[in-house]
Amino acid sequence: MRYVIANWKMYPQRREDALRIFGDTVAMMGAMRGIRVAICPPFVWLPVVSSLAKSTVWLGAQDSGWADEGAFTGEISPTMLKNIGCRLVIVGHSERRTHVAESQEIIRKKTVATLRAGLFAVLCVGEQQREGEWEKEILEQTRSAIADIAQDNIQRLLIAYEPVWAVGTGKADSPKDTVTSILLVRRVLKDKFGAAAAEQMPVLYGGSINAQNIHGFAVEPEIGGFLVGHGSLDAGEFSKIVMAARLKEET
Ligand code: PGA
Repeated sequence: MRYVIANWKMYPQRREDALRIFGDTVAMMGAMRGIRVAICPPFVWLPVVSSLAKSTVWLGAQDSGWADEGAFTGEISPTMLKNIGCRLVIVGHSERRTHVAESQEIIRKKTVATLRAGLFAVLCVGEQQREGEWEKEILEQTRSAIADIAQDNIQRLLIAYEPVWAVGTGKADSPKDTVTSILLVRRVLKDKFGAAAAEQMPVLYGGSINAQNIHGFAVEPEIGGFLVGHGSLDAGEFSKIVMAARLKEET
């Protein structure tokens, strides 16, 4: 089973466009085996499109608060997200780390809160640049983010390896180097959760995936799926990515 997660970022600006893109994407998916798709629109569009989500195309959120309730002006809790039909939350995306200075501590708390609410968490990790001690950066970021996760909840934990230099730049990583980095992430998962559990845990790739370059990644069984930003805003392009991402033996 592979996961393909659409991250719409701060698009589109209009309600009717959100409805159209979501509706068209669902219509193009049809019945699919071997793949699970989730679409993560901006918060305000979640209730607008939620009735269009299906068992084959989940609704997801791009972020969540770290607490279940309380005096946290402007925050949205994982329980609220679950209540309006979300199944999954992206946690620790590099744009949040960069633009709103989301700390490792907050990311750790958000991951725990998301899993505790019964949602899937897509935890993003990745180096800034592929230079210097970049491998150490991946190892330490992953170790810190998963530190407080209880073993009972790991069936709903997905990791997205997203090298920051590849996100939104049009410069995807190479499939071979992606696999090398995913194995680093998996080493940390093994230390924390044990080899058997870590082997099962999907580690996705994200960063400038499109309908052309997906084919090179799709043949690597170590890659557990894809987190797709710009390539998910066009239903036609996104459905090509999803079709290519399916594991051949499961289709
Ligand atoms: P991109 O974004 O596909 O536009 O590089 C990836 C992401 O938002 O995670």
